[in-house]
Amino acid sequence: MGKDLTDKTVVITGASSGIGRATAVACAQAGMNAVINARRADKLKAVAEQIESMGRKAEIVCGDVTDPETSARLLDAATQRFGGFDVVFANAGYGVRSSVCDMEDSELREMFEVNFFAANGLLREAARRLIRERRRGHLLMCSSSVARFALPRFGAYCATKSAQAHICQALRAELRPYHIRVSSVHPIGTTTEFYDVVGRRSNPDENAGLLLQQTPQRFIQSPELVAKAVVACLRKPRPEVWTSHTVRWFAAAVTAFPSLAGIVFKDTPLAPADRA
Ligand SMILES: NC(=O)c1ccc[n+]([C@@H]2O[C@H](COP(=O)([O-])OP(=O)(O)OC[C@H]3O[C@@H](n4cnc5c(N)ncnc54)[C@H](OP(=O)(O)O)[C@@H]3O)[C@@H](O)[C@H]2O)c1
Repeated sequence: MGKDLTDKTVVITGASSGIGRATAVACAQAGMNAVINARRADKLKAVAEQIESMGRKAEIVCGDVTDPETSARLLDAATQRFGGFDVVFANAGYGVRSSVCDMEDSELREMFEVNFFAANGLLREAARRLIRERRRGHLLMCSSSVARFALPRFGAYCATKSAQAHICQALRAELRPYHIRVSSVHPIGTTTEFYDVVGRRSNPDENAGLLLQQTPQRFIQSPELVAKAVVACLRKPRPEVWTSHTVRWFAAAVTAFPSLAGIVFKDTPLAPADRA
């Protein structure tokens, strides 16, 4: 069974949909209270109502994670409403389908701001407070299975996920003396709004709207499955949460033998607009 999570407090970014929402609900099922963040207030309100209908408490902190104030507001809200926080899950993120050649620096920086800098900033601030005030706790970041190999046309997104996994690995060692756990989460394709966002943000030539249909079913899972794995990690902490053994082994094999990637990922010519 592992740790009892009853009355513990979790802070989650990107909790208005997908993996963040499912994790907030799963944490409530496990007896936790939640501070939930995203930009869409109506969606967050629905999540808070669901949590409260389960007999737990929820606090909404609406805002963009790239706003430097958001991290402090989230952690302050946890302290004011629940007397502190035990778990922080930096989950908010998005992807774009684009060849490396086609991506402008401004787009790349924008994605790094959300996926990497905001997540890192939140966990850094949480770590500083936990070291000062509690000397225990659990910090998690939603990386991806693609942290360990790069999908063609998703190079920039994979780079943000890889950066997240690396920062978690270093932070894990740095916080171990303070009894603060750090885990990175590595889902495979998950049926969330992620794919709609990729479709909206990508060049229409990329046909990114078809991405989910084009992904083989064995590499697709539900956000509830990821949430369950995250809660299991809170009960019994481990460095990394993987939700597919097959993909984890593939990632290990490509790390050891990089030429494997050239066999598995076929040559991927540039989109028509790039070739013009
Ligand atoms: N779906 C997959 O296949 C997959 C696989 C591996 C890893 N992941 C990772 O899982 C995490 C969650 O994604 P998801 O699949 O659950 O997608 P999702 O349903 O689109 O959820 C993304 C969440 O992030 C929030 N968000 C995005 N930008 C934000 C910003 N600037 N400020 C505050 N909140 C922001 C969104 O809320 P608002 O729009 O309301 O702000 C939403 O709640 C991401 O880090 C993603 O990279 C996803």
